[in-house]
Amino acid sequence: MSPAAVPRRRVLGLLGLGVAVVGGCSVAGPGTARFDPRRGEVLREPPELTSTGGRLAVDLVAGPGASVAGRPAAAWGYGGTVPGPTLRVRPGDELAVRLHNRLDRPTNLHTHGLRVSPEGNGDNPFVLVPPGAAGDYRIPVPADHPTGTFWYHPHAHGHVAEQVFAGLAGALVVADGPTPGVAADRVLVVGDTTLDAGGRPVTLGPPPMGAGRRGELLLLDGQLQPEVGAVVGEVQRWRFVNATASRTLTLALADHLLHRVAVDGITLPGPEPVTAVRLLPGARSDVLVRPDRAGRWSLTARTAADGGMGMGGAGPVDEVLATVVVGGPGGATAPFPVLAAAAPSPAGAVTVRRRLVLTGGMGGMGGMGGVGQGGMGQGGMTFGIDGRPFDPERVDQRVAAGAVEEWTVENATPMSHPFHLHTWPMELVADSAGTAPTGVAQDVVEVPAGGWARLLIAFVGVTGRSVYHCHVLDHEDAGMMGTVAVG
Ligand code: C2O
Ligand code: CU
Ligand code: CU
Repeated sequence: MSPAAVPRRRVLGLLGLGVAVVGGCSVAGPGTARFDPRRGEVLREPPELTSTGGRLAVDLVAGPGASVAGRPAAAWGYGGTVPGPTLRVRPGDELAVRLHNRLDRPTNLHTHGLRVSPEGNGDNPFVLVPPGAAGDYRIPVPADHPTGTFWYHPHAHGHVAEQVFAGLAGALVVADGPTPGVAADRVLVVGDTTLDAGGRPVTLGPPPMGAGRRGELLLLDGQLQPEVGAVVGEVQRWRFVNATASRTLTLALADHLLHRVAVDGITLPGPEPVTAVRLLPGARSDVLVRPDRAGRWSLTARTAADGGMGMGGAGPVDEVLATVVVGGPGGATAPFPVLAAAAPSPAGAVTVRRRLVLTGGMGGMGGMGGVGQGGMGQGGMTFGIDGRPFDPERVDQRVAAGAVEEWTVENATPMSHPFHLHTWPMELVADSAGTAPTGVAQDVVEVPAGGWARLLIAFVGVTGRSVYHCHVLDHEDAGMMGTVAVG
């Protein structure tokens, strides 16, 4: 069955189903025995599936039973692995996915960051694959699509946080071929989850709606603190994907600079040396790394506290994500490869200016923007945009095809939100926190707590209806999502 063939009414009818069904999960309680992970194993990157002859046709089976951290487990994976296989395509290829749903609740597939059609059985967030069914996706990647790092994950509203947290995510690389001049081109998917002693994903009830859920295990390619091999003087490319449900991560390598070469799949004009890379939920950063001496160096991840809400709770924590084991003496210091910068975002006069307001607050407490409007999260908090929760039947923004618009996204809540728009990338112009714009289009942009972000968006390339939302996935599931129709 084609996912697009599911009538919309039926789809909507399916949305509530998963709530009552908790098979395959376990509910966390105090003193619950925990999963016993292995740590320090050699990094194994996800299996890679590469297009041939202009096409990548894959069967992705979404279901429980995936290993995590070197142990057999019942995490939810695509094809039995966490993360799922890396899908590698060239610009101009067709990505054909048959998604088999072996979960007991609806799921679907989203190709995060790809500038592809959101219509029909393309990258369509409005269609669902019911439990036990399969759906066929056909995703033609435009010939002029930027080459870079993207990812895929479920987008069934109300189930997204739980499914990504349980392991369903994978990288999607658009590339003309191997990166020239690097000793390794690594896909590094950062995820987090909590498993019970039997290796089943733990259901957080009620989810911590403030900052979103945070897993006990912070994983790199499904492993706990793996060892990444390198040799002095060589250059490696690391493609970081933040596939956690809600963490904003700051990544750093002890005693080394990271040379950032791409943001959200868009190649920068040249490498930018940075001491750390900040990665919003859903965002990507590609960096070049060139170890300068032998040793063991920690790659650490700092998680921002409480989504900027300052509610007391735990302060930011540094966790070891991996150990980079650098052998020597190595050869001559390799030069950084020159990567072709992405074409600049299409310029053009701004024809429409819009204002959107992220709204929500504590149910019943009063005093916060948009209180009582928007969807009710299970933690007693409401989340919406412009004071109302997501409604897949509604069109919230109508945009003329080809228009260049300026969107000012305001934040009437006391926590920051990573704002994500499908299909059409956004260039940050300015924000209330004085953040330096990256100069390239991004697909996730932070809207500071109580502040605003001004974005330039060129609605070029494809037309159709899709969504924008907060990428703290619990917020999205609770209603902080809207629809945009371009055409
Ligand atoms: Cu990565 Cu609509 O999401
Ligand atoms: Cu997306
Ligand atoms: Cu949010």
